[in-house]
Amino acid sequence: MVNALKIGIAGLGTVGASLARILIDRHDKLADICGRPIEIVAVSARDEKKDRGVDLSHVRFYADPVELAAEADIDVFVELMGGEGDPALNAVRTALARGKHAVTANKALLARHGVELAVVAEESGVLLNFEAAVAGGIPIIKAMRESLTGNNISRVFGILNGTCNYILTEMERGGLSFKDCLKEAQRLGYAEADPTFDIEGNDTAHKLAILTSLAFGTRIAPDDIYLEGISNISIEDIRAADDLGFRIKLLGVAQKTDTGIEQRVHPTMVPKESVIAQVDGVTNAVAIDADILGELLLSGPGAGGDATASAVLGDLADIAKCQPGHQHGPVLGRPAVQLQPYVKARMRSHEGGYFIRLTVEDRTGVFANLAKHMSDNGISLESIVQRPGRFGKGGTGEHKTVILVTHATMEASVRKAVRSISSDGYLQDKPQVIRIERPGHH
Ligand code: NAP
Ligand code: HSE
Repeated sequence: MVNALKIGIAGLGTVGASLARILIDRHDKLADICGRPIEIVAVSARDEKKDRGVDLSHVRFYADPVELAAEADIDVFVELMGGEGDPALNAVRTALARGKHAVTANKALLARHGVELAVVAEESGVLLNFEAAVAGGIPIIKAMRESLTGNNISRVFGILNGTCNYILTEMERGGLSFKDCLKEAQRLGYAEADPTFDIEGNDTAHKLAILTSLAFGTRIAPDDIYLEGISNISIEDIRAADDLGFRIKLLGVAQKTDTGIEQRVHPTMVPKESVIAQVDGVTNAVAIDADILGELLLSGPGAGGDATASAVLGDLADIAKCQPGHQHGPVLGRPAVQLQPYVKARMRSHEGGYFIRLTVEDRTGVFANLAKHMSDNGISLESIVQRPGRFGKGGTGEHKTVILVTHATMEASVRKAVRSISSDGYLQDKPQVIRIERPGHH
């Protein structure tokens, strides 16, 4: 048997501890499959004494992950600490520059520095693998980097954050409040160290930025994403959506338009009968529209220690199976220096359906006024529903809820119509506007 693949793991939290346990429990099986054993020879974490539920007493401990990356006698540096800056950035860059392969689950790091790190990896002739960084255990990076080569991709979209999908699902089931659902997602190990990254959509945006680069061959552009999270979504929105045949999902969407690439992350109404509407709990789903293949939908566990460790393990096994001297494919599907500049499409020119929920004063003329603002802005309505009182809270006689569902229209027109409605003085609450996505066959 050839030499063992020696790895160093920086980060022994939810993902790192799961990975270490699986590598130890399945040591012999992995050695058979890969043709050589995978050995953990060094680890790093903040607290050396913490019980990780796995015996690592025989493994060298480094307080400094950069030192591990630079000095430990390892073939692969596995980064599972998180964070877009140091020490993760310095450690991964150091490992790659010293000719060590790197594996990471860190989408924040890749969204911000992925191209720079890809250049270092390609110059050093080593691999930078990151399957676990997007959609947890779903093998979406492999599919896009390898299996879809030669296809023109027009759109990639999906549910990319397990925490948000878990919260929306549990709220709809009616059991728990937003706050309690988030607490439970944290307890289950789904949420980021700072969960505002999940609920405000940043985590989905990081993942979407990586998928956009793979889909369209452009440089990663994490700041050019229209971003709205789910913290604004109330149980009333979820019930109103249900009433009209929709479910609310936090989607990340990247799509080619005539003026550039549109990247957006926002709560979205999807028809109840669509496949994506059925994706519940921590499950993620990624849909790709490709010209040779057609429509592809992959779904599976999007967060959690074992699901994520499964993807990291796949990346490690790929490296273990490589013969010495083997040429490695480019990190982002094509050589990093050839990635094209990202050209952003303006969000105001986004075209689609909209759900608009308004709490209005219950008086004559309001309904006609709403209809007039819609028609003045060229917006055609698919449906208009009135309910007494604030939605889901019963009638008071003073308020009424009006829900407008539009046909495809321009974002700029909707914003203008809502602005005019707001200035007419009869709204009782902030208007709620949620985009509708018709996911083709997905
Ligand atoms: P976590 O539970 O918070 O674990 C982070 C680990 O990194 C801890 O062991 C911590 O040490 C260690 N660490 C933090 N700063 C360090 C430093 N300066 N030096 C050395 N070690 C340091 O995080 P996680 O959930 O496992 O996530 C790890 C990475 O995977 C993140 O990039 C995350 O976005 C990504 N990811 C997570 C999931 C998931 O479901 N959890 C899924 C996909 C991707 P201590 O334990 O001693 O504090
Ligand atoms: N916090 C992330 C999520 C982890 O909930 O999806 C997986 O990337």
